[in-house]
Amino acid sequence: MFSRAKNYIIHTPEEIDRIRLAAQATARVREKLRTLCQAGMSTRELDDLAGALIAEEGGKSAFFGYRGYPGQICISVNEEVVHGIGRPDRILQPSDVVSMDLGVELNGACGDTAITITLQEQVPADIVRLLKTTEEALMAGIARARAGNFIRDISAAIEAVGRRARLGVVREYVGHGCGIHLHEPPEVPNFVTPDRGPRLQPGMVLAVEPMFNLGSYRVVTDAVDHWTVRTRDRSCSAHFEHMILITNNEPEILTWPKTM
Ligand code: MF3
Ligand code: CO
Ligand code: CO
Repeated sequence: MFSRAKNYIIHTPEEIDRIRLAAQATARVREKLRTLCQAGMSTRELDDLAGALIAEEGGKSAFFGYRGYPGQICISVNEEVVHGIGRPDRILQPSDVVSMDLGVELNGACGDTAITITLQEQVPADIVRLLKTTEEALMAGIARARAGNFIRDISAAIEAVGRRARLGVVREYVGHGCGIHLHEPPEVPNFVTPDRGPRLQPGMVLAVEPMFNLGSYRVVTDAVDHWTVRTRDRSCSAHFEHMILITNNEPEILTWPKTM
């Protein structure tokens, strides 16, 4: 007999209650940041603001200190894909495309969500296409997240939307299990892999997070801060993320915006 390390986690109903609350707090902070993020602010001010909003929820940043990460949230502008760090000298411009990725720890559970927004009225058509397609891919992936399907069904749906729109589908960073810890098994790639991954079961919680580029899928990590990930060709990138609960029916989007 051989045993295989468990490559997924089924959360208990008691855990799911706490995960739901953490995810909802994360979504509320995300929606506030969506309106408060404006041209003229520095990305450091935006990071400070995010930290204050997370504290108002009674939570803590799940990112600060994670593998030494120095920010409250990740703020990735234009060609930055993920893991951008707020800086006092980076003033947001009206033409900037801003990704905000945030994690909130609350009462022993964890939320994780991301959006990409624009700051001006007139947005170039290719940017509109990039943002719409990336969010559409997220929703297409979520639609396949049903008990009995495999992780790869989510991956395939996301990749198909990105390819159809001729966007670069980032391969170096992937979605993941989430809930009690920020990153739990399994990985949720945004492209088809030889491994179909575990079969989806009620009680699994996943963070689904496509990252698409206007140009090549290839990315590089900043040689100085060792965090900021950029497109290699410097084309614009987008990132959207929701946390979902697998159920006996359609998935519950734990970070869906709720009217308060
Ligand atoms: N981008 C990651 C995610 O959504 C989390 C960032 S880890 C940090 O899963 F250390 F950069 F904060
Ligand atoms: Co995230
Ligand atoms: Co995530």
